[in-house]
Amino acid sequence: MILTPSMTGISSPEPLQHAFKVKSAPHAGRSGSRPANVTPEQWQQWWQQPSESEQRALYIHIPFCRKRCSFCNFFENGANPQRISDYMQQLCQQLSVAASSPFAQSQPFDTVYIGGGTPTDIQATEIAMLGAAVNRFPLVDNAEVTLEGRLNGFDDDKWHSALDAGFNRFSFGVQSFDTEVRRAAGRFDDKAQLLQRLSTLSQHDSASIVVDLIFGLPGQTLSIWQRDLQAVLDSGVHGVDLYQLIGLGGTRIDRASDKGKILGTDSSEFQADSQTRAQMYAFGAEYLESNQWQRLSSCHWRRDARERSVYNSLAKSGIEILPFGAGAGGSIHGHSMMNARSLTEWHQAQQLACTIGNDASLSTPHNVPGMMFTPNPSAKLDAIFKRGLDSGKLQFNQLETHLVEQLQPLFEAWQSHGLAQLSSNALTLTLAGRFWNVNMQTGLFEFLTENKS
Ligand SMILES: C[S@@+](CC[C@H](N)C(=O)[O-])C[C@H]1O[C@@H](n2cnc3c(N)ncnc32)[C@H](O)[C@@H]1O
Ligand code: SF4
Repeated sequence: MILTPSMTGISSPEPLQHAFKVKSAPHAGRSGSRPANVTPEQWQQWWQQPSESEQRALYIHIPFCRKRCSFCNFFENGANPQRISDYMQQLCQQLSVAASSPFAQSQPFDTVYIGGGTPTDIQATEIAMLGAAVNRFPLVDNAEVTLEGRLNGFDDDKWHSALDAGFNRFSFGVQSFDTEVRRAAGRFDDKAQLLQRLSTLSQHDSASIVVDLIFGLPGQTLSIWQRDLQAVLDSGVHGVDLYQLIGLGGTRIDRASDKGKILGTDSSEFQADSQTRAQMYAFGAEYLESNQWQRLSSCHWRRDARERSVYNSLAKSGIEILPFGAGAGGSIHGHSMMNARSLTEWHQAQQLACTIGNDASLSTPHNVPGMMFTPNPSAKLDAIFKRGLDSGKLQFNQLETHLVEQLQPLFEAWQSHGLAQLSSNALTLTLAGRFWNVNMQTGLFEFLTENKS
């Protein structure tokens, strides 16, 4: 049996800080699929067949931003109004065609996520048009419909247009409330503006308002982070994600770091190392939970039941996700897929579909070039591991007995390294385990690959 420190972590009196060296990757996974060639006929057939997925989601990508933030590599296209308008027209047309297909109509959707980029940068009228297109799909009662983006530029017109169009969850990237840290990261608003706007939006009687914070930004000391958490509570929002800064290639922070520089603030060149980030995570988790916030996953907490985080939890469970828009990823009939990021290719594919003009193509959204993969035979099992470790508890009744037995040495090593507690029916992660859960997921997949039974 092969059991390595990259799977188990190492023994340390302080596992939170030292069980692993650094977070291995933003997400874990193992690839059990191969690139697939899908013919135009097959593609059209897929849209005529009913879905076999019990739960499913729509993911719609809006790949525009007004500014490139120092930490982020999700920036794809500048927010030129004409370019956005052309994109929204074609996107909504494509959504309408897709919504009327037998495949879309065969099974209701539990959740819809409009992600980016910065979807809140589209016009109020475009938000209304997008909402109308989404509502052509069959949605379950009380489906969660999220609009992602930023507070800057999200004015009352857009807010009311979104509420009227059926959006009931808003996920805003705040990153840090600290005005200086924000400025260094290339963000627009200051702390007072953010708090004021969040407090107004959070008073709405049904929409869920969620913010993303990052720990480990340049200039963000431990005490600034503590004030960031206090601001979350003061703002009145219903949910928060605490993300550790990941060094993404090509970002300004990353390029500076290659030259040994930190893009800090006027008052601080500090940037937290992995051990300090572990402390920041622990402070955030304990602070929120001691204020009666409930943990829904290793990085997401809610103030009350209004926030459900349906999309994020179902996406981690490996359900069917229909992807729309340039750069959107998802899965159809078990095949995972990723649309090409190029706007030009995306528009060209749409025009091509219009020129085919036969009956099938009229009821089938165009197939955007990109990547398509054969069904992953271990997808269901991998989703149980990912979801379990991400939620902090892996229940053994979801797994076959021989698999639990096979994994026992790994689970025992995690327990002895302070990352988890093992009982006869579940593995429960400690705070340290929750901080390192992506490394543990990666380690588990590595263990299964190296120790095939
Ligand atoms: C796709 S972005 C959209 C955010 C939105 N456009 C905005 O301006 O806030 C979603 C979230 O990813 C997170 N993110 C981006 N870059 C990150 C990084 N390098 N490390 C960790 N989280 C990151 C941020 O918290 C961000 O709010
Ligand atoms: S944080 Fe948002 S606005 Fe900034 S580059 Fe990333 S996606 Fe664009």
